[in-house]
Amino acid sequence: MEVLEAIQTRQSTRLFQQNPIAVEALKQLIEAAVRAPTASNAQNWVFGIVTDPLKLESLRSLSPGLIGHPAAMIIFCIRTDPNPETGELQIPEYTWMGIGSALQNCLLMAHSLGIGTRPIGSYHKKGVAIYLNLPENILPVLIMAVGESMDKPRKPRNINIEKVCFWEEWGEL
Ligand SMILES: Cc1cc2nc3c(=O)[nH]c(=O)nc-3n(C[C@H](O)[C@H](O)[C@H](O)COP(=O)(O)O)c2cc1C
Repeated sequence: MEVLEAIQTRQSTRLFQQNPIAVEALKQLIEAAVRAPTASNAQNWVFGIVTDPLKLESLRSLSPGLIGHPAAMIIFCIRTDPNPETGELQIPEYTWMGIGSALQNCLLMAHSLGIGTRPIGSYHKKGVAIYLNLPENILPVLIMAVGESMDKPRKPRNINIEKVCFWEEWGEL
């Protein structure tokens, strides 16, 4: 799938099929995530992959924002201490931007593999951290629900970029 086509046709999944997602495919999603840019190449992130049905059910109960039953979840976490690999620690704003880039890579990679996804920000952060036994320096900042989609593809959204741009300097939008 071409990048432009992937960008234009990606959509968040509501209805997931229960079929498991191949481990290789899940690894490909993480491979895509870790190729995202980060400030000073700090890579202050960790990705948890959950496929165990009982664990998924428990995480669902901690996630009011999650509709449906995904076959897997990827927990995007940030490190609050220097990455032992790079020795780098970044200001939180940059770390969050890195997570956003990793998320988008992951969403597009999943879409290009024919896998549905939905980012979930509405979940009990402390509860998820305790349930997954995370140390204090690892914060779960986003859950990505993953599974085969049963949703119908929607029409590409028509967005007028003139309404969100300014050219050269601030003017009337
Ligand atoms: C940071 C973030 C948090 C989100 N949290 C939720 C959520 O808790 N529950 C949910 O159903 N969708 C959630 N979404 C998905 C958005 O609602 C969805 O991306 C948006 O409506 C645009 O739709 P699209 O992804 O199909 O283009 C989240 C998306 C992002 C980027």
